[in-house]
Amino acid sequence: MGTILLFFIPLFFIPLVFSGFLEYDQDVLLSQDWTHAGRVDPSEQLELTFALKQQNLDLLGETLSRVSDPDSAQYGKHLSLQEVASLVRPSELTQKVVQRWLQTHGISNCRTVHTQDFLQCTMTAEVAEVLLPGSRFNRYIREGQSIVRSSAPYSVHDDVHQHLDFVGGLHRVPPREKYVNLKQPRSKAGVHLGVTPAILRARYNLTAADVGSAQNNSQAVAQFLEQYYHPADLAEFMDLFGRTFQHRSEVDRVVGTQGGGKAGLEASLDIEYIMSTGANISTWVFTNPGRHESQEPFLQWMVLLSNMTGLPWVHTISYGDDEDSLSAAYMMRINTEFMKAGVRGISLLFASGDSGAGCRHLGKDQNTFRPSFPASSPYVTTVGGTSFKNPFKVTYEVTDYISGGGFSNVFKMPDYQASAVKGYLNSVKVTLPPQSYFNTSGRAYPDIAALSDNYWVVSNRVPIPWVSGTSASTPVVGGMLSLINGQRLAKGLPALGFLNPRLYKLKGQGLFDVTEGCHLGCLDEQVQGKGFCAAPSWDPVTGWGTPNYPALLAALQS
Ligand SMILES: *[C@@H]1O[C@H](CO)[C@@H](O)[C@H](O)[C@H]1NC(C)=O
Ligand SMILES: *[C@@H]1O[C@H](CO)[C@@H](O)[C@H](O)[C@H]1NC(C)=O
Ligand SMILES: *[C@@H]1O[C@H](CO)[C@@H](O)[C@H](O)[C@H]1NC(C)=O
Ligand SMILES: *[C@@H]1O[C@H](CO)[C@@H](O)[C@H](O)[C@H]1NC(C)=O
Ligand SMILES: *[C@@H]1O[C@H](CO)[C@@H](O)[C@H](O)[C@H]1NC(C)=O
Repeated sequence: MGTILLFFIPLFFIPLVFSGFLEYDQDVLLSQDWTHAGRVDPSEQLELTFALKQQNLDLLGETLSRVSDPDSAQYGKHLSLQEVASLVRPSELTQKVVQRWLQTHGISNCRTVHTQDFLQCTMTAEVAEVLLPGSRFNRYIREGQSIVRSSAPYSVHDDVHQHLDFVGGLHRVPPREKYVNLKQPRSKAGVHLGVTPAILRARYNLTAADVGSAQNNSQAVAQFLEQYYHPADLAEFMDLFGRTFQHRSEVDRVVGTQGGGKAGLEASLDIEYIMSTGANISTWVFTNPGRHESQEPFLQWMVLLSNMTGLPWVHTISYGDDEDSLSAAYMMRINTEFMKAGVRGISLLFASGDSGAGCRHLGKDQNTFRPSFPASSPYVTTVGGTSFKNPFKVTYEVTDYISGGGFSNVFKMPDYQASAVKGYLNSVKVTLPPQSYFNTSGRAYPDIAALSDNYWVVSNRVPIPWVSGTSASTPVVGGMLSLINGQRLAKGLPALGFLNPRLYKLKGQGLFDVTEGCHLGCLDEQVQGKGFCAAPSWDPVTGWGTPNYPALLAALQS
């Protein structure tokens, strides 16, 4: 032990003399399921992403508020990517200093984006370790997937410290299939109403006429796992379950690399269901857009959004990590990227997670709930999950106990939700978990919900029942928002864009309120497995509730 300590102290502290950490609070330990496979060869090529400090972020925030607030004269006056670039583009000084720093280390193979706030550069591991003192690149393997990551925190030279938000490609790893699971029904009878497109369309009052018809409408799912949807699964799914409504059976565009191998359950689920509620709408799939194993696929997708015009209006994403495992610098910057998408009129929907309020062990007998990011970002619409009250019938919905929800420890509560959240906290005061478990000053989520229990999915040509998770509810809501966008676009109105300011002003209009049931929390004496409970109007379990499509359309089509 002693020798190890002596070895580590100098390693961490000498670099501080001339450089600083950008992400001192980033978790650098990989989960147990990754096997360490040794140091990388010094000549191995890595690709790192440099997030350059942007300008005018206050103005970006104000613009987003105005274009998303239905009571503002600027509502719907979305910005083009070019206009976003003029707003946030890093200063000349920032660009020069960062470029010179890279050049000094012989790094010249870099690509930028339209907004010039990201640089992606290839270099050898040897150069990367000199460029970023403290970093140590190793190879890790999980189920045949191989990645290169740093086992120690990196620092950057003092001269560039103030010009960078973070460097990507060192720490964060693709999560496992997270927001989907096979949940056997609690009833033993074996007969169970599985959720299919027809059941969803019945519950949410979608008629045969409620399909897309606007030429210029589109929607997308983004996936960052080593798994793929198979076109043949989608076609079979639509054959089996798409008889009662006009739909498409093919994806229009795949951005990124669709690997071979087996189809993933989550990948199949996302695409099959966004195309069932958002029926007959052009659909894209963003899939592992990176070209290199050293990249962070989620970051890669964000970088891509800053470099593409003509994007789909609605994106649904079933991806998340514990807030406490990520650096504040990273989350803040990704949050800014969400704002950049929002001002362009793009709606981003994230699954709220499948662990209820979550649980983090702080010490002996000391626990707290565990919010997840990006679900906790104030600039995305977060989707929770529900079940049918009676599992054998299309009835009203109650909380699905897995539905992710809670309060951010990183992002302040945005104005648009302050009165809704206050209303909830006051009305359920006596039944709330102890104050030490959550942070009422933070952004509360989810915002909305849909069924997340007992879906039928076709994966690898096989229909599979009992697929559950907020990975299911998110594309279902996404598809319905796309239908509404279609109606708006056909009338010459702008797309919905960042929905939350408008959603909270509806105060539940157009939605089925979910008022029964509690989600999971810590399994300890104090809260005994319980997180928050649903209640009339907004709650941190199911948000405002689930869509009643014709009523929501009526509320959002002007
Ligand atoms: C962004 O797009 C341009 C072409 O429009 C391309 O040259 C550049 O390499 C892209 N940047 C990245 C980071 O992929
Ligand atoms: C929608 O569905 C609900 C419950 O299934 C039903 O009560 C209502 O009448 C339906 N129609 C409209 C337009 O809301
Ligand atoms: C399906 O969408 C296309 C445009 O993409 C449209 O021409 C067609 O009429 C739509 N079908 C229905 C039933 O609305
Ligand atoms: C509570 O949330 C705020 C942001 O709203 C944050 O600044 C603060 O550090 C959080 N407190 C804890 C204990 O995490
Ligand atoms: C979409 O098409 C409709 C009619 O075809 C048009 O009025 C509207 O301006 C278009 N919207 C966009 C964003 O291109």
